[in-house]
Amino acid sequence: MLSWDELRTECLACRKCGLCEGRTNVVFGCGNPDADVLFIGEGPGRDEDLQGIPFVGRAGRLLDDMLLAVGFDREDVYIANIVKCRPPQNRDPLPEEREACLAWLRNQVALIRPKIIVCLGRIAAGVILHEDYRISQEHGQWIDRAGVRMTAVYHPAALLRNPNLKGAAMADFIKIKQEADALASKEK
Ligand code: URA
Repeated sequence: MLSWDELRTECLACRKCGLCEGRTNVVFGCGNPDADVLFIGEGPGRDEDLQGIPFVGRAGRLLDDMLLAVGFDREDVYIANIVKCRPPQNRDPLPEEREACLAWLRNQVALIRPKIIVCLGRIAAGVILHEDYRISQEHGQWIDRAGVRMTAVYHPAALLRNPNLKGAAMADFIKIKQEADALASKEK
């Protein structure tokens, strides 16, 4: 298995799909490499591409607010994306782009060994949880796989478009924090 440094170095030089042509930066991921909780978004937008850091635009600020509101610190969790380079005009990443990029995320998961994986939005949920994931019906439900608790919540960008969904998303975040606290206290 690659070390963090090797993984990052190789990922930053990746040319496995066409998204490398338009990128300013590879958005590798950020946070605590020993995190109990891993959040996985879809892919970088304009701000993330410019800064090389996930979730730093408007949706990212909302994510930060929600994390803080339930007692998570952005520095304590890890945040990554399904694809590490920005799709043009923020379109959904194509199946071949997702497939090409997934090895990086698999390596990240193997190094972090999170107890909880939270998919941010339907694209991440469709890749990580199951192909026909219906976010409006299944958000907040737990799936246990290989000793990891997995779930999905509405993408923060969806909450910006439809603020009516914020209540449901906050309820999911509260549940996730409670679960993270319960798993952490079991360890002691
Ligand atoms: N949306 C995502 O899915 N990921 C980011 O990093 C930013 C916005």
